[in-house]
Amino acid sequence: MKKGDSIKSPKARKAIEVIRNCRRKIDRFHDWSNAFFQSLMLLRNTNLQNGNVEFEFQWAHILSRDTVFSHQRIDELLSITKLEPSFFKGKKCLDAGCGNGRWTYAMLNLGAEVDSFDISPSAVETCKLINANTKLMDINDLQSDPKYDFVFCWGVLHHLPDPELGFRKVASQVKQGGVLHIMVYNTETQQNYLKGRELWPALNTKQRLAYCRKMVLTYGGTLHGWWDALNPRYNYSYSPDEIEMWFKREGFQDIVLTTRDGINMRGVKPYIAS
Ligand SMILES: C[S@@+](CC[C@H](N)C(=O)[O-])C[C@H]1O[C@@H](n2cnc3c(N)ncnc32)[C@H](O)[C@@H]1O
Repeated sequence: MKKGDSIKSPKARKAIEVIRNCRRKIDRFHDWSNAFFQSLMLLRNTNLQNGNVEFEFQWAHILSRDTVFSHQRIDELLSITKLEPSFFKGKKCLDAGCGNGRWTYAMLNLGAEVDSFDISPSAVETCKLINANTKLMDINDLQSDPKYDFVFCWGVLHHLPDPELGFRKVASQVKQGGVLHIMVYNTETQQNYLKGRELWPALNTKQRLAYCRKMVLTYGGTLHGWWDALNPRYNYSYSPDEIEMWFKREGFQDIVLTTRDGINMRGVKPYIAS
């Protein structure tokens, strides 16, 4: 029996059926628009190994002051992680879902050795400009390989179909004594995006850009940031307690919530006596 089948009122049953139909249409629209962008990228001769084009548009076409490679990124990384600059020196780091590589840039400049990957070909292309160790890859294809001192996964997991599975994948890359830092959306700070996400499927690209511009004027932020918050198919959000449980379930200790609005949290994988 599906949810709602026990509801007796014909009106309520009808409403549920309408909602189900809408969701089916939205899913079909997403598949269709994904296919459309994929065709565009193929026309541009972009190498689309994974076929995921959800994030292509923003990395290929919407530049942002927040992703420019500058000293500010280093300050932001230190502020987000609440780690000392000396922490990064000589460390082997992984930037999982690196985007254009703004955090890769910061870690490299703090003296770390960094491997970076993303599912978006345009993001990878840009990140490669600053880090030769960048590859096109899906987080879900990570095989357990606990070799990193520091794994950073910022703003990625909440866009996956199964975020906690993605968490386990990145956790599997952290070596004993190493640190995992993630950022995911906090449910309490999603209100401004709800309407846009609802409207999104019915808008074409031009209308979507216009909507984002309006949001920038109303609430601030950047065009890239708004697009990034509204365009992805999956936008899960959490409470800090839920994320702390993810860390605990994977055996992490010394768990620290470094910012709450976007849940920035890190933990240490303990040494296991052999
Ligand atoms: C909000 S952006 C954050 C990018 C980067 N971490 C930053 O903070 O600038 C989310 C990124 O996750 C990447 N992404 C989404 N799903 C992915 C997956 N399954 N595997 C790898 N990367 C993925 C997207 O391509 C996008 O670059």
